[in-house]
Amino acid sequence: MDIKCYFVAGGAGFIGSNFVRHLMAKYPQAKVVVYDKLTYAGNVANLADVADDPRFRFVKGDICDRYLVDRGVRGADVIVNFAAETHVDRSILEPDAFIQTDIVGVHTLLEAARKYGVKRYVQISTDEVYGSIEDGHFSEQSSINPSSPYSASKAAGDLLVKSYWTTYRLPVVITRASNNYGPYQHPEKLIPLFVTNALEDKPLPMYGDGMQVRDWLYVDDHCRAIDLVIEKGEKGAIYNVGASCEKTNREVTHRILELLGKSESLIKHVADRPGHDRRYALTAEPLRQLGWAPLKPWEERMAEVCQWYSARRDWWEPLKSGDFEEYYRRQYPDLMAKAGR
Ligand code: NAD
Ligand code: TYD
Repeated sequence: MDIKCYFVAGGAGFIGSNFVRHLMAKYPQAKVVVYDKLTYAGNVANLADVADDPRFRFVKGDICDRYLVDRGVRGADVIVNFAAETHVDRSILEPDAFIQTDIVGVHTLLEAARKYGVKRYVQISTDEVYGSIEDGHFSEQSSINPSSPYSASKAAGDLLVKSYWTTYRLPVVITRASNNYGPYQHPEKLIPLFVTNALEDKPLPMYGDGMQVRDWLYVDDHCRAIDLVIEKGEKGAIYNVGASCEKTNREVTHRILELLGKSESLIKHVADRPGHDRRYALTAEPLRQLGWAPLKPWEERMAEVCQWYSARRDWWEPLKSGDFEEYYRRQYPDLMAKAGR
């Protein structure tokens, strides 16, 4: 497909910023517009290495803002929507922003996509829309059954996107990826939180028994999958993105402690997350049929990730101060009680 300009909503977040780097390295002729509200999770530092490239433009804006979205999308060939409120625990504390961004914001982008006749609208979604599965795996045909305000809002966004294909033949594609890990992930999520806490010799708050299972996907493998479905994906289709790399939270935690040479006494069992999904697992046959596969094994990637966070304190230390400390106190009262605060 001849793509001259990508509009990347939420491109200052974790996966979006990695995707922008992927695009700019792979397509020397392409322009990239990042449109991002810069919430607590958005960070211009994630894009520092491409910021001065003449092919790159940053626009600060909310995907719910019809006027700004309209102006930003004009001239773009492809919209890739990463913009979302993304943290399950925050959706349990305060769901409002999730309804706005993950549903109303998606509608705003879809309307602009329809008005300007983009070649592709890609909705970056999640395996969490399928809900929890005890045995077996979800496929693209599985029904949705979300558990948290986060996954319910993402599921609603997916339904809107699908309706724009069915009703208006807007050339959409939906990707549903499993849990990502890699550089530039906000330290509120499991892997960066536990790695950075371990580096600081702080407790690692494990919810419940720690036997919940997630299917871990390295962020670059996810970015290559998105690129592939833009180029070769079927219009109106859903593509699961999963590396078949199931680990319990305990396994992940033990690996982090081993890699960093830290003691298991750092693990603190805290109250479980309400409605906690026990296991996510999915197949990704249609994507694999297009030729996709993860590039390296989990063990190797985890070592690289621990090294990255060890070397980039300059990146994550500021994110763990200020408002984050307030959130942390609210989210982990058990830790505060143990620390006598
Ligand atoms: P993130 O929280 O790191 O980044 C989200 C970005 O969206 C931030 O830059 C934020 O500023 C921006 N944003 C939030 N609200 C906005 C709004 N109203 N208008 C414009 N920008 C806004 O998230 P992430 O982990 O990079 O996830 C990106 C996408 O991938 C999300 O849609 C998420 O649902 C999906 N996803 C994430 C994972 C994962 O494991 N992280 C897995 C599967 C799918
Ligand atoms: P998270 O990174 O929040 O991703 P998601 O809930 O979207 O899968 O959490 C991954 C797993 O780690 C999940 O089972 C919840 C668990 N977890 C903890 O045990 N402690 C924590 O402090 C966090 C943030 C997550």
